[in-house]
Amino acid sequence: MACFLAVANRKGGVGKSTTSVMLAHAAAAWSGHRVLVIDLDTQCNASLMLVGGEGWDKARRSRRTIADYLFDRFDKVAEDESQYVIANAGDVAHPRTGNGRVALLPGSLLMEDIQGELFVAQARKGKDTEVVATEVRGRLKRLMKHFGMDYDVVILDCPPGLSFAALAALDLANRVVVPFRPDFVSQFAIDRISTMIEKVHTSEDVAAIPFAERRYVCLPNYVRNNNGRERLLLDQMALDHPMLASRIPLLDSVARAFDWEETKKSMVEKYADALPHLRALHAEVFSGIPRELD
Ligand SMILES: Nc1ncnc2c1ncn2[C@@H]1O[C@H](COP(=O)(O)OP(=O)(O)OP(=O)(O)O)[C@@H](O)[C@H]1O
Ligand SMILES: [Mg+2]
Repeated sequence: MACFLAVANRKGGVGKSTTSVMLAHAAAAWSGHRVLVIDLDTQCNASLMLVGGEGWDKARRSRRTIADYLFDRFDKVAEDESQYVIANAGDVAHPRTGNGRVALLPGSLLMEDIQGELFVAQARKGKDTEVVATEVRGRLKRLMKHFGMDYDVVILDCPPGLSFAALAALDLANRVVVPFRPDFVSQFAIDRISTMIEKVHTSEDVAAIPFAERRYVCLPNYVRNNNGRERLLLDQMALDHPMLASRIPLLDSVARAFDWEETKKSMVEKYADALPHLRALHAEVFSGIPRELD
């Protein structure tokens, strides 16, 4: 069974999709893992990064998205879920085949509507809304888990906010990477998401859990060199939350990696001067995930 890795933060624009795609490419290229990215966000940024606008639109029109999968299979036994997945995605080439190296379950603009519909359909059966919410979340979690059979690593790119799918992803994840901007507000966002990930009520409850036992780890993104205030803030946050030693600097090459290109390239070409930072991040995040040999 795959390791499920959620990339999540309730805050928008902190680099969740960027981190998801970078980790996916790194795990495939440097650990030889079979990697699937599940795009849970209506903005579909991870999908656009991995297959481009046309590729995503084709998937949308042929009903090969996460929303279609959930809608089609919600009340049925999920089998052959692979038909919803785009293989050989991403613009990093496999050195032998020249194909993209990761797989993608594309996102959908309808993701929120579908979740609403599933909720309403269940609620009509006369159940208490809280029970229905728990059931919908549980079902989404099990449906996502099916993909774990075919991959070593499944990366869940979460939307900002708290949709059923995001909550299901947090439930399912073996680990959660929480990217954040090193600013004052981020502390509050991390305090809040950490209670949800650890399934406790308050930050004090989280504080009682040893770092080594927490499922989440924070990743400073958009880090600027030689910024004393930022460094101080990060040191302070590291007292309360497990923090990766690697960090992603604010770099044009990271911003450019957002743009999918038809021509496939090597990791060096794709990530340029971000490469050493991605190598460090890869080593830290994936060191504990064994490669399953066929
Ligand atoms: N380290 C970085 N250096 C420069 N630009 C970055 C960096 N990380 C992310 N970006 C850029 O910041 C923008 C937001 O990043 P991204 O979409 O990954 O964030 P997000 O958390 O997924 O956003 P959302 O909450 O909307 O899903 C993108 O344009 C991305 O290219
Ligand atoms: Mg995103």
